[in-house]
Amino acid sequence: MTITIRPVTPADRPQLRHICLLTCDAGQSGEDKHNYPDLPGHIYAEPYATPELGHTWGFVLVDDERESGKEVVGYVIGASDTRKWEADAAEKWWPTLQASETYKPLVSSGADSVADGPLIQPTEDDLKYIKTLKAFPPADEAQIKYSPAHMHIDLIPDYQSQGYGQDLVNAAVTHLKDVSAGQGKLNSVWLGMDPRNTKARGFYLKIGYKPVDQAAETVLGLNFKEWFELYDAGRQAKKYEEIRRAAAERRKGGT
Ligand SMILES: CC(C)(COP(=O)(O)OP(=O)(O)OC[C@H]1O[C@@H](n2cnc3c(N)ncnc32)[C@H](O)[C@@H]1OP(=O)(O)O)[C@@H](O)C(=O)NCCC(=O)NCCS
Repeated sequence: MTITIRPVTPADRPQLRHICLLTCDAGQSGEDKHNYPDLPGHIYAEPYATPELGHTWGFVLVDDERESGKEVVGYVIGASDTRKWEADAAEKWWPTLQASETYKPLVSSGADSVADGPLIQPTEDDLKYIKTLKAFPPADEAQIKYSPAHMHIDLIPDYQSQGYGQDLVNAAVTHLKDVSAGQGKLNSVWLGMDPRNTKARGFYLKIGYKPVDQAAETVLGLNFKEWFELYDAGRQAKKYEEIRRAAAERRKGGT
């Protein structure tokens, strides 16, 4: 297995949507909850890999030994200037989706359920996403005050819990620290999460994310300086552990 991280491209969009579906139900698969399986990704993944929308960034985790078209197994994506991205999306992304052949019948029904019209009946979860698609909620001011930048991260199950999430966060932070947005160079990034996703919360808190002042409990932020201190310390500790183990092996072997 050869795993690498590279910048996201528009060609990755189908796989971004797929990964988003496999993780959209508080970190678990949403396959059973959607009759419109592309909806989660159309809202929370694809607008970060679409050239028409500015102020976006992203990195994908690639397993070169997987079948072509499926080699992207995880992503970290976001916007460096959330307010500008929101404005861009309001002009160029949501209207296109709302008017698309697939979603137009659902969007124009205006109700919480759709009696007739679309060929495929939406599920309860589809309808929740349609509401978001009709009126994407802007980020709270407290979040923007903390940082102009936000992010999303998702890995497919086979690649979770092996350190790749942490590596993707490192790729994001390494990139964002040199990006200018708002008052100057970015020094932090935030994310919003499903309150049911306690596993992801554990991950974020473990790697240095903290609650954001005045923001909802479901918002966590990462300060870049603190990140590098923790990440470097973690790497040093792992390296030390490897050296210690190798020395112990050598002693055992009498060399
Ligand atoms: C959440 C997610 C991104 C984490 O990535 P990951 O690759 O599984 O996590 P990592 O293996 O990089 O973990 C990094 C560190 O966090 C720790 N960690 C991970 N989950 C943890 C948890 N629930 N509680 C405490 N520590 C945790 C790991 O032990 C590891 O620490 P170590 O280096 O000391 O061993 C990934 O599991 C995922 O995509 N889940 C499904 C989608 C999702 O929930 N996305 C977030 C939406 S808000």
